[in-house]
Amino acid sequence: MSEGVLVLDVVGKIVFANQAIAEIFSLANDGFIGKRLLEVIRLVELSDLVEAVRRSGQPVEREMKLVFPAEKNLLGLANLAGDNIAVIIRDITAMKQLESLRSDFVANVSHELKTPLTAIKGYVDTLVAGAIDDPDNNRRFLEKIAKNADSLAALIDDILALSRLEVHRGIAPFEKVFLADEIEKALETLAPAIKEKRIEIVNLSGGAVVGEPSQLYRAILNLLDNAIKYSHPGGKVEIVIAKTEKELCLSVTDHGMGIPAEHHARIFERFYRVDKARSREMGGTGLGLAIVKHIMEIHGGRVELKSAAGQGAKFTLVFVSRHL
Ligand SMILES: Nc1ncnc2c1ncn2[C@@H]1O[C@H](COP(=O)(O)OP(=O)(O)O)[C@@H](O)[C@H]1O
Ligand SMILES: [Mg+2]
Repeated sequence: MSEGVLVLDVVGKIVFANQAIAEIFSLANDGFIGKRLLEVIRLVELSDLVEAVRRSGQPVEREMKLVFPAEKNLLGLANLAGDNIAVIIRDITAMKQLESLRSDFVANVSHELKTPLTAIKGYVDTLVAGAIDDPDNNRRFLEKIAKNADSLAALIDDILALSRLEVHRGIAPFEKVFLADEIEKALETLAPAIKEKRIEIVNLSGGAVVGEPSQLYRAILNLLDNAIKYSHPGGKVEIVIAKTEKELCLSVTDHGMGIPAEHHARIFERFYRVDKARSREMGGTGLGLAIVKHIMEIHGGRVELKSAAGQGAKFTLVFVSRHL
């Protein structure tokens, strides 16, 4: 939205307000010229800003918070304009939201990094305190340390992947990618887990899209990794590609624990998990689906979820025609 411009005369009556002012403050379009500021816009911070300029004769800039009729963060810049006072108002709500998302992310990352680090420190301290000579436990503790170090490394990999995705948004050179090849590679990577859990893989894939192969591999790997992780032992995972004129859909379906509906809206958020402790225990970072979502965005597509508690999950990567 463009900047709001408001001009007040010496006695504080509105002599000019542009369309953006009406939009920012949800005002009915006319009828505010000639009225006092507070009669039209009931935002005390704004009249304070104007007062501050009147008193000091200097330009004043201030952030303001509008609560009604909608919550908005505004930035107001007021200055003398001859005998009048001109106020420029910018809606900075989106910027503020981004800022708070960023700082939430930093807080989350710190917390997530700290969890395995605290565990490592705990086992090391215990070993140093004497457990190193305890043949019943020393090996077990070292294995715990190794597992937590792996978690740390996975976390850092995923955080870097996410930040690269953000920086390179849309710039990566695209090429023709045969999805079956990327699926094959992902299945190879996951072969040990598939074997250990006796997962039956049904792979009915074929088809090509235009994209970045390593990113598409990563998206497929994340979905298959989840499907295997959240399947019951001996379960079946199906990979299907369906093509229509307008879209190509790659779906990964499992028959495991599923995701209760109340989590669907947030499941693609960073670090959001149905069961945090369990996800960590299984070596998860909570970033996999956020990465998948990002990857599909740079490919001009989307990711969809169908699932219910106890009924398995179906994740679908949807590519639209201009990327086929
Ligand atoms: N196929 C699935 N079946 C059941 N739950 C799933 C599935 N895929 C993802 N989830 C849920 O979504 C959460 C987020 O997934 P993801 O971002 O890949 O993180 P992670 O696997 O590291 O925990 C998981 O913790 C899990 O609760
Ligand atoms: Mg995962």
